[in-house]
Amino acid sequence: MNKVIHSDVINWLHKRNVIKRKFNLIIADPPFNINFGEEKGNYNRDEQKVLRGYIESPKNYEKFIGRFLIGAKWHLAENGTIYLFAGWNWLDKVIQAMRKADLFYRNHLIWKYQFGVFCKKRFVTSHYHIIVITKNDNPYWNKKEGHYVEDVLDIKRPYRKGKAKTPTMLPEELIGKLIAISSKKGDYVLDAFAGSGRTSVMCKKMGRTSIAVELSETYCDFIKKEVS
Ligand SMILES: C[S@@+](CC[C@H](N)C(=O)[O-])C[C@H]1O[C@@H](n2cnc3c(N)ncnc32)[C@H](O)[C@@H]1O
Repeated sequence: MNKVIHSDVINWLHKRNVIKRKFNLIIADPPFNINFGEEKGNYNRDEQKVLRGYIESPKNYEKFIGRFLIGAKWHLAENGTIYLFAGWNWLDKVIQAMRKADLFYRNHLIWKYQFGVFCKKRFVTSHYHIIVITKNDNPYWNKKEGHYVEDVLDIKRPYRKGKAKTPTMLPEELIGKLIAISSKKGDYVLDAFAGSGRTSVMCKKMGRTSIAVELSETYCDFIKKEVS
């Protein structure tokens, strides 16, 4: 049911006839173009347990996100939703790319969390942006799960003490909330830029069918173990 594909997700989405079924939900957590160093001792990690292999984005971030969104739009159901994670550094490029792809800017969520990098001469970053993108103003919305839900989500990142991990693993609680609100049992979900495959893991738990696409072979092997 749940597939893991080792590929550049953008090239994969642009092979238009390979994907037969439209996605009801796309959760995309791309690299943030911040020269992320997986070896850095942030996120309160035990470095020994962090898997190497993280692939950063190309320098032209707007083009990178833009090509992704054009491909994602082709394969998104009419009432489907894309949750696109973004850092603050290149948020303008992400919004610009979404506008150019002629998609609907439905919501803007803030995921509040403290990820353990302390700056002496700047404000300490303690949030992520999640852009809620749809094709129109009438996407699927699970009334029961999404009843008066606020747009600031204060959710801790898990430690996974003593267990192998990828460097930017999202909390299952956060992903689970997005899946519950924007999909139903049996729906088809794309876990784009899958990393540790948290979206796929939650899809399995919640009865959705997922396709994880990740460029790092090491991470693909990790996801396969987690969803098997
Ligand atoms: C921020 S992480 C995703 C973390 C993930 N949400 C999780 O919970 O573990 C971004 C991932 O995108 C992968 N990546 C980078 N460029 C890619 C591409 N063109 N296609 C697919 N994956 C890519 C990186 O290797 C990295 O694992």
